[in-house]
Amino acid sequence: MQDIYVLAIESSCDETSMSIIKNGTEEVCTVTNTQIDIHKEYGGVVPEVASRTHIENITIVLDELLFRSNFTMDMIDLIAVTYGPGLIGSLLIGLQCAKTISLVTGKPLIPVHHIAGHIYANNLEKRLEFPLIALVVSGGHTDLVYMKEDYSFKRIGSTLDDAVGEAYDKVAKVCGLEYPGGPLVDKLAKEGNDTYDLPLPLNDDTYNFSFSGIKSAVVNTIHNEHQRGNEIRVPDMCTSFQNRVVTVLVKKTMRALKEYNAKNLILAGGVAANSYLRQELTKACLENGINFSYPRISYCTDNAAMIGAAAYYAYKKGIIADQTLNAVAVEPLYNEK
Ligand code: KG4
Ligand code: ZN
Repeated sequence: MQDIYVLAIESSCDETSMSIIKNGTEEVCTVTNTQIDIHKEYGGVVPEVASRTHIENITIVLDELLFRSNFTMDMIDLIAVTYGPGLIGSLLIGLQCAKTISLVTGKPLIPVHHIAGHIYANNLEKRLEFPLIALVVSGGHTDLVYMKEDYSFKRIGSTLDDAVGEAYDKVAKVCGLEYPGGPLVDKLAKEGNDTYDLPLPLNDDTYNFSFSGIKSAVVNTIHNEHQRGNEIRVPDMCTSFQNRVVTVLVKKTMRALKEYNAKNLILAGGVAANSYLRQELTKACLENGINFSYPRISYCTDNAAMIGAAAYYAYKKGIIADQTLNAVAVEPLYNEK
């Protein structure tokens, strides 16, 4: 079979990333320009600043990718791009770049859903095995997804309010930690003790999640302590918060595996980088004979390699766009009821 090389572009938030992926499994080269240092100053991503910075960076990232990989455009078969969900202004920069390359070269344009990308980051580590359950945990999503085959996505549960990454970032902020707070909460939680009395978030029999309650409980606890003139013990708060969140994520995920008779679990999204979540899922999967895998850290947070991996399977399903492709801020991934 002839090899297929995908040139993939991801610009849905604050990373300008481009990658060349071979046959959906092999990373040839990736170049990512992150804007974290720019947005840190504001305590979160400023959409207008993000899209302007993408404009400044996008051709530089493309030049760098071709230079580092020693590739020319005629060696590429497909042009893939994240079309949503994400920040509209940011998405449009990557999308316009992809559409232009596709128009000029005549190569097919493959639209990739951002969460399909996060899921297929796992395919860069090890070929996905089906049926599987994917626990998608990012700054914008918390979903349990059932996949019976490639590019078939059935959502079985989701957050009713905040995404788990959003809750991590908010808790970090009220604890006085820098943006993005998730990695810092993860780090400090290792040094703390579970001393704060926080509720388990939506510990029920559904596959849905809710993190606004525990987020408010953290805010209220800190507020009450301050009113009493006490300082908060930040590592203890990080441990207490993380323990509750991970307990429920693990419990619902293990139940989904059982009910859907799936022997494979994958973790996806920025929060897949969380060491405690990885550790607890590894333990539970070992006990239950489940095949568990997760992407390396650089494939957990936003990157174009994952988009290139997903695009290969989208293309095989006949998913090809034309020049009318537009960016979408909110878009369901799920193609199965
Ligand atoms: O997938 P991602 O890069 O962007 C979105 O698509 O949302 O996820 C970013 C989220 C942020 O909320 C960040 O704080 C969180 O992932 N995150 C973590 C860790 N690393 C990144 N949360 C908890 N523990 C981590 N180690
Ligand atoms: Zn993401």
